[in-house]
Amino acid sequence: MKADDPIARFTRWFRQEVGAGTNSPETMALATCGIDGIPSVRYVLLKQADERGFSFYTDIRSLKGRQMAQNPRAALAFYWPRRGRQVRIDGSVERMTANEADEYWATRPIDSRFSASASHQSHRLKNREQLVARVAQLRRELKGKEPVRPNYWLGLRVVPDRIEFWVRAPFRLHQRELFMRNAGRWRKTLLQPLGLVPIETVLHRNRPVFG
Ligand SMILES: Cc1cc2nc3c(=O)[nH]c(=O)nc-3n(C[C@H](O)[C@H](O)[C@H](O)COP(=O)(O)O)c2cc1C
Repeated sequence: MKADDPIARFTRWFRQEVGAGTNSPETMALATCGIDGIPSVRYVLLKQADERGFSFYTDIRSLKGRQMAQNPRAALAFYWPRRGRQVRIDGSVERMTANEADEYWATRPIDSRFSASASHQSHRLKNREQLVARVAQLRRELKGKEPVRPNYWLGLRVVPDRIEFWVRAPFRLHQRELFMRNAGRWRKTLLQPLGLVPIETVLHRNRPVFG
């Protein structure tokens, strides 16, 4: 394993959490921002992490889906308190192929597939009964057949260009290692952990970052 390969580091950290029995280590905050410039964040579940990026599944008609269609950038954050670790990932967003989505759809419990088929994620709902009735109606219509994957239910992948590993340390002298990808190569920089000075010299998309 290359010492400075952030994907390998992420995989090692993730496996350590799984090995330690951490509850849902795959839970990650996903931040998106549409053209109105108003950011929003929610949790989703990481399904795969490899050289290609970090993937999850969603309804692309949702708020996040619409924002990523307008602005195909996203940021992810994991926090694993057991070892005091945070991983932050910034990158561009790409859609996974229909085949990949079909494969994952087939592994989901059938009840979850009915739910995803009956729900229009993030759109207004009059009352809960309406949603439950839609699921029941779909079951009747399909007469025992399995629902096929709706074309709005897709896998998305955050292709990282920045990955930061943060480790808790005594007296808040936390360790921060930032990997930045340029022309396919990862370069590592250390970042200061505290906002002791007003403006840091490290630039984040041309905006100053408070260390
Ligand atoms: C632990 C956890 C895991 C979740 N995983 C997903 C997921 O993988 N995909 C998804 O679309 N929503 C997931 N959700 C629901 C989202 O947080 C959110 O409510 C939904 O996607 C709508 O978000 P949006 O309106 O910003 O698009 C999860 C919620 C929690 C609390």
